Amino acid sequence: MKRERRALSQHGGRIRRGGHPEASAALAAAFERAAAESPDRFTHAFHSYPGRMHPSLAAEVIARFADPGELVVDPFAGSGTVPIEAMIAGLSAIGVDRNPLAVRLARVKARPIDDAERGFLVALVRDVAERSEERVRARVDVRAPLSREEARFYDGHVLKELAGLREEILEVTSDSEDARELLLMVFSAIVVKFSRQESETREDVAPRRLRKGLVTEFFARKALETIERATALGRALPPGAPEPRFVEASALDLPRVLRRERADLIFTSPPYGGVYDYRDQHARRYPWLDIDPSAMTREELGARRKLHRRDDLGRWDDEVLAMLEAFTRALSRDGRVVLMVGDAIIGGELVPAETQIARLAPEVGLVPIAHASEERTPFRGRPREEHLVYLERA
Ligand SMILES: C[S@@+](CC[C@H](N)C(=O)[O-])C[C@H]1O[C@@H](n2cnc3c(N)ncnc32)[C@H](O)[C@@H]1O
Repeated sequence: MKRERRALSQHGGRIRRGGHPEASAALAAAFERAAAESPDRFTHAFHSYPGRMHPSLAAEVIARFADPGELVVDPFAGSGTVPIEAMIAGLSAIGVDRNPLAVRLARVKARPIDDAERGFLVALVRDVAERSEERVRARVDVRAPLSREEARFYDGHVLKELAGLREEILEVTSDSEDARELLLMVFSAIVVKFSRQESETREDVAPRRLRKGLVTEFFARKALETIERATALGRALPPGAPEPRFVEASALDLPRVLRRERADLIFTSPPYGGVYDYRDQHARRYPWLDIDPSAMTREELGARRKLHRRDDLGRWDDEVLAMLEAFTRALSRDGRVVLMVGDAIIGGELVPAETQIARLAPEVGLVPIAHASEERTPFRGRPREEHLVYLERA
């Protein structure tokens, strides 16, 4: 039986607005821009990430809700879309995520490459690819850093080629941490494609035939393309644009993460309750990248695995309240919050997100000012929406 698809679809649905007319029009404009523009912008799409925000939507919200010189903070930064768009707008930004892979990926995506570095990286990719091909030809023995369980997701020769390529990345780039991290993230971007896992979001094992050398070829092509994208990002930045900072932590620790700094705009898309297990989305990648997902196991919010019973609704309310409270404590005096939230699905029941936030926010000193809500594919016949909600400090 096919698993029920719960992810939300593309932009372009009907938009319902409420609250302060100007603010709700600004939020609606962000949805409209996302529907009109391609999400393929600079480094945005080089690596899959579930629940990724449309970069044009992020850019529009930042343009309308942050002023020059302000600090933009995304406590559920995922692959970094909001902080990267803040940098492109010339603003300082901090991104926080509990998933170590998210933070590593976001750092790589946010790093512009200049022309001098580009030449060095292109040569490096060619070198790594050559050595990896040489390993395949010479049938060099290599051990993959995977358990026997994990190893069964790959054909024998593919596993060997991946393991050899990974060793080459680690060895050849040992003198440049940034270069190594870039190539490891490119490796991460392709690894699921070469596993027998049917797709990014399904764990089913599908039979496939892949010729020798294809992994390396694909890696090199993807790496060169990513370098071009990061170079284009560098050329698009305004002079002096500060690179965003990314921190691996729980959003609930935001005030501690910021220390003495305060957020002028918290703009974030928290997990939609009961929709995903972000920890499990990247399970294939963790052993290759030496990632320990135990903090995600303990501290992930909104996780489907923790919210599958009907009486988990109270737990979901508690989680949302704790997030909002952490946001309030991290805001500057005239700080603002924009949330992009989708309706939750708790124990098979749809929980409209915008009304939940409107009910809980005042408990922690936040006032809901406006929202724009875009229609999505219905869930079991019930209309479902994704919302942009704007709040201010009381
Ligand atoms: C909707 S995604 C954000 C996607 C992001 N806007 C992007 O464009 O890639 C939600 C994120 O919340 C993260 N998350 C879940 N629990 C968390 C927690 N307690 N603290 C921080 N991040 C958490 C997940 O790892 C995931 O990356």
